[in-house]
Amino acid sequence: MTMRIAKISPFSGLEEAVQEDVLLARYTWYGIGGPAKYFVRPRNLEELQLASQRCAENQIPIHVLGLGANLLVSDAGVNAAVFRLDQDFFRHVKFDKNILEVGAGVDMQKLVLIACRNGLSGLECLAGIPGTVGGGIRMNAGGKFGDIGAVVTRVGVMDVSGLLFDRTKDDLIFDYRSTNISAKFITHAQFELDEDDPERIMRKVKEIWMYKRNSQPLNTKNAGCVFKNPRGLSAGALIDQAGLKGMKVGHAEVSEKHANFIIAHSGASADDVLKLVKIIRERVFEKDGIHLESEVQVWGE
Ligand code: EPU
Repeated sequence: MTMRIAKISPFSGLEEAVQEDVLLARYTWYGIGGPAKYFVRPRNLEELQLASQRCAENQIPIHVLGLGANLLVSDAGVNAAVFRLDQDFFRHVKFDKNILEVGAGVDMQKLVLIACRNGLSGLECLAGIPGTVGGGIRMNAGGKFGDIGAVVTRVGVMDVSGLLFDRTKDDLIFDYRSTNISAKFITHAQFELDEDDPERIMRKVKEIWMYKRNSQPLNTKNAGCVFKNPRGLSAGALIDQAGLKGMKVGHAEVSEKHANFIIAHSGASADDVLKLVKIIRERVFEKDGIHLESEVQVWGE
């Protein structure tokens, strides 16, 4: 006689918030990526806490997905739970004079416009940077016009056990594309902005937009700058000087417009992009002795 053991889902009771084997390609700007074993979209804090606890109990690795704009997911996908905080609960926007309180799932571009319309300045530097507030804070999104960390006053976080706590300005450190936040989840954030004339704010936003439109391949599938700038240098200029603009592997190509961008043409795989990344690293190291460090997050094997 054979015994049949029913397989119990690690997420029983959370069926409405958890899907299995969801292709991540449609959730990344590259349009690349295999499936996530579990795809979790909690509708409130309790679901987030419970789903995270279940991952911990069942040794399921956790990834948190924002807008997938700074991300490369492997073709094989990830044997993990991918959380996406895109439900209403995580997308609230509240004002109290110049203090802005928002959920981690809020789109940074929408926030830039909302702040502008309400005459609040400080987020203009995020113009043209795709991502959610949570992702933006995690990476300290920004560029030469400033970064998000400069206006953050409080960040709500949650660790994998479901414990919620606040990190405040005095114990937060925002560095070049990084922060000292170690908790797995960012749930919400507070910004302190300056009151200013909406028209003046909009002019600044447009200026930054124009700069990017002129120097970056915005209308292509890419993940922004692939490498961090080495201290005092520009990764884009180094790759350019190594003569790598236009170099292709499969359907992935080093942008002719800005060498720190890799464009994924139709049919490109994660493998194409990763091979190109490796070649760029090798060539720049051979020429200049500099190790380029990835800015883009890579998930999966
Ligand atoms: N350059 C070249 N060739 C190129 C690209 C750039 O010679 O192919 C030169 C430019 O002429 C310029 C210098 O390199 O003299 C710097 O280039 P750019 O002004 O485009 O700035 P960047 O340092 O390459 C950074 C951020 C961008 C951000 C811009 C504008 C990094 C790695 N990149 O780029 O961020 O949009 O400033 O604020 O920090 C991103 O993080 O994904 C990203 C795109």
